[in-house]
Amino acid sequence: MVKDMRSPAVFDMQTGTNMTETKTPALLDFDNVAMTFPDGTRALEDISFSVHAGEFVTVVGPSGCGKSTLLRIASNLEANTSGTCSVDRDSIGYVFQDPTLMAWRNVKRNVELIAELHNVPKAERQARAAAAIELVGLKGFEDKYPRQLSGGMRMRASLARSLVMKPKVFLFDEPFGALDEITRERLNDEVLHLFQSEGFAGLFITHSITEAVYMSTKVLVMSARPGRIVASFDVPFGVNRTHDLRYEPAFAELCGEISHSLRGAHQ
Ligand SMILES: Nc1ncnc2c1ncn2[C@@H]1O[C@H](COP(=O)(O)OP(=O)(O)OP(=O)(O)O)[C@@H](O)[C@H]1O
Ligand SMILES: [Mg+2]
Repeated sequence: MVKDMRSPAVFDMQTGTNMTETKTPALLDFDNVAMTFPDGTRALEDISFSVHAGEFVTVVGPSGCGKSTLLRIASNLEANTSGTCSVDRDSIGYVFQDPTLMAWRNVKRNVELIAELHNVPKAERQARAAAAIELVGLKGFEDKYPRQLSGGMRMRASLARSLVMKPKVFLFDEPFGALDEITRERLNDEVLHLFQSEGFAGLFITHSITEAVYMSTKVLVMSARPGRIVASFDVPFGVNRTHDLRYEPAFAELCGEISHSLRGAHQ
């Protein structure tokens, strides 16, 4: 099941058809990227992969192997020490583990924040915020403050805040790790639905193999630090996924293969 990492599968988002033959240019491309921190910590080495339109790529790997560093490089919060990371930085959205909402702003004003920082005119950003709030199921909570929301609702607000900018690529760093399983599965479905309806590509980090397979068109396994990509698994299920897929034998088999690869990566 380990595939050549240079030939990613691209799926048509409406039909789930594999469009590999008609591949679009990459929206995000890592070419031989390495990262060594000033204190000498070698976090990443020899990272090469791309994310294309219609792809949802998930990275799994041992704690401390450099997954967050990878996302921080993609979002320009960190500069890689060699290789090239190509991405249109105006077209990326982020959801990190901590929803980082402003405590003194209500949901509506938090969701408007990034658009505000990008000088989107007021009427336009208010309209976009209202639409994003509706998309993530927070309608009716516009006037609540972060302390009045559940963990899942805070993540939804964080998601809406980035959706306002209509990103082409969405970066997710373990966004649902702190949530209970049912809320997490519900949010998985919501993100999958948004992935189809809004048409963004995804780069997702998680420690959950089930979540990785359920969400993705491709799963990459990273080695222990310095993180390298040691395996790539194309996920053969179409995009119209439902909860029951998690209990299909083919799903369990793929999870098993990834788990096996991940165990090797821990050594
Ligand atoms: N600013 C920094 N300076 C020095 N070392 C750093 C810095 N940031 C991260 N590291 C180190 O780089 C390595 C990779 O960290 P990173 O946060 O990317 O791991 P991760 O794979 O996201 O881990 P986890 O699964 O626990 O979130 C770790 O050893 C970490 O200590
Ligand atoms: Mg991390």
